[in-house]
Amino acid sequence: MTASRSAQWYRGTDRNAYIHRAWMRRGLPSDAFDGRPHIAIANTASDLTPCNMHLNEVAEHVKHGVWEAGGVPLNLPVVSLGETNVRPTAMLWRNMAAMAIEEMLRANPIDGVVLLGGCDKTIPALLMAASSVDLPAVVVPGGPMLTGTFRGAPLGCGTDVWKLSEEVRAGTLSEADFLRSESSMIRSKGHCNTMGTASTMGLLAEVLGMTLPGLAGTPAPDSRLLEGAHETGRLIVSMIADGRRPSDVMTRGSFLNAIVALAALGGSTNAVVHLLAIAGRLGVELTQDDFDRTGSGVPLLVDLQPAGRHLMEDLYRAGGLHAVLNEVRDLLDPAAITVTGRPLVETLGEATVHDRDVIRSRSQPLQQDAGIAVLYGNLAPDGAVIKPAAASPHLLRHRGPAVVFDSIEDLHARIDDLDVTPDTVLVLRGCGPKGYPGMPEVSNMPLPPKLLAQGVRDMVRICDGRMSGTAYGTVVLHVAPEAAAGGPLGLVRTGDTIILDVPARRLELDVPAEELAAREPSPEMTAAFARPSRGWQRLYVETVQQANTGADLDFLTGSSGGHVARESH
Ligand code: FES
Ligand code: MG
Repeated sequence: MTASRSAQWYRGTDRNAYIHRAWMRRGLPSDAFDGRPHIAIANTASDLTPCNMHLNEVAEHVKHGVWEAGGVPLNLPVVSLGETNVRPTAMLWRNMAAMAIEEMLRANPIDGVVLLGGCDKTIPALLMAASSVDLPAVVVPGGPMLTGTFRGAPLGCGTDVWKLSEEVRAGTLSEADFLRSESSMIRSKGHCNTMGTASTMGLLAEVLGMTLPGLAGTPAPDSRLLEGAHETGRLIVSMIADGRRPSDVMTRGSFLNAIVALAALGGSTNAVVHLLAIAGRLGVELTQDDFDRTGSGVPLLVDLQPAGRHLMEDLYRAGGLHAVLNEVRDLLDPAAITVTGRPLVETLGEATVHDRDVIRSRSQPLQQDAGIAVLYGNLAPDGAVIKPAAASPHLLRHRGPAVVFDSIEDLHARIDDLDVTPDTVLVLRGCGPKGYPGMPEVSNMPLPPKLLAQGVRDMVRICDGRMSGTAYGTVVLHVAPEAAAGGPLGLVRTGDTIILDVPARRLELDVPAEELAAREPSPEMTAAFARPSRGWQRLYVETVQQANTGADLDFLTGSSGGHVARESH
C-alpha cells in the first residue's frame, strides 16, 4: 500500500523528511507526523471579501473537529473574491482562484481539504479546484446574513438595492432616504440573504452532496454553523479513511439533483455557468440543455427574493433546504451520495415545512414551471438562458424593435434620452467572457427614466453577460457565442425587430439571412472589446470558453488528480 500524501513528506529518517517535519513543528507534537491525516482548511476569509470575513472563526471550529478525530488541521488562506468590490468583475477571477487553489492543494502535504466559502464566486472556485485535485473534500458554506429592516420592512441584499435605486430614478424615493437604508441592509456577518448566487451555490453544494447534511443555509451568525463546522472537521477525517473523493460524490445524478433544486428554490442563473464548470472539472457529462430538460416542469416552491418576498433567514426557520427537497423528493436521483457516503435522499429524514408562506407545497407552488429556459435561434446559435420565474409573464412572448449598446458605458451615456417605448428591446453586447473581459453582471440594464416615469418596471433585455442572482426582469442572458467571439449579437442594429418566444424557446432576429450574412461588425463595437496585453487577463481572454459550457479556461477543464510531485530540494 502506498503511503498517504502527507506521509510522503513526513515519514522517514532522511534529510528531506527531517526538513519537512522540522519547519512544520512550531508547537505540533511529534505524533502529528506519525501518519495521521493532515487536513487543509482552504479558507477564503478576507477583509476585502466582506461576506467571508467570519470564516476564520468557522475555521477554528473545523480545527476542533479535526483534532478530535485524530487529524492535523492546517489553515490555508486562498484567493478570495468579494463580489461587490472586485473589478472589472469577480467572475474574471473565478478561474484564476480555482487554478491557484487547485495547485496549492496539490503542492502541499495534505490528505484532504475542508472548503470555506460564501460570497458568490468562492464556493464555485473551491469546488472546481477540489474536483481537479480529487482529494477528499467537504464544503462548509459560510451562510447568509440576518434579515435587515428599513422603515419597518425587511430589506433584501441586492434585490432591494435595485428596487430602491430605481425608485430614486423614478423620483418616488429621496436620495437621503436611499442612503439611510444602506446600513440597515447589511446587518450581520454572512453573504447576501436573497436567493442570489451565494445562497444558491451554498445550498447547491449540499444538494451536490458536498456538505455535512443539514448545514447549508444556516445563517452565518447562528451557533449551529459553528457546531456544523466542528462536525465537518470530524467528518473529513473519516472521509480520508474511507477514501471518498469529489468524483465519488458529484456524479451526473448529483448535478441533475442540483438542477431540480435550483428550480424549486428559484436560484440564480449564475448556477448554470458554475455547475457546468464544476462538472467540466470532473468529466461529468452535463450540458446547458440539461437545465431546461431536467428543470422544466419543476415548480417554484420557495418564496424568496428576487422571485418572491422572503429571505434566507425565513427559509431556515421554515424548515430549510431539507424541507424543500422533501417536497421534490420523487424528482431526486436516489443513488446520488453525499460526503457521508449515504444517499442525499436518505439524509433528508422527515424534515417538514413549518411555514407554508415561505415553502409552498407541490399543489400550491408560486409558479408551475421554474426551470431555466435555454433559448436558441439566429441570435444565439449556441444558446442563451432566461429565468422565467424572475421575468414578467406578459413579456415572455414578445416582438419589438432593438436599441443597441456597444458597451455598458455607451448605455449609461445614452439611457437618459432614448427614443423608446415599452415594446423596445434593449440589446447590450461586448459583455461576454472575452469581450468585457469576465462576463460581468450587467445584463439587467437600468430602464430608461422616461419609461420608469410612465410606471414601466420591466422590458425585454438581451445581453452576452450575466445578471446578478439577486436581480429580476425579462432578461435574456449568456448569449453564445458572445459578440466578441463573432456571435450574431454583434450584427444587430438599432431598429431591427427581435422575437422572443420563451414557451417555444426561440430568440430570433427578424432579418433575412442574406442581409445578416452581408453585415460587418461595426468598428465602434469591436473597439470596445477588451484587448489585454499581458498577465492573467490576456491568458483568460485567449483561452476562456463560452458561457454555454461554463466559461472555464480551455486547458483547465478536467482533472490532474492529487499526485505528489518531485522533491523540492
Ligand atoms: Fe457577497 Fe452578495 S456580495 S454574496
Ligand atoms: Mg453576484
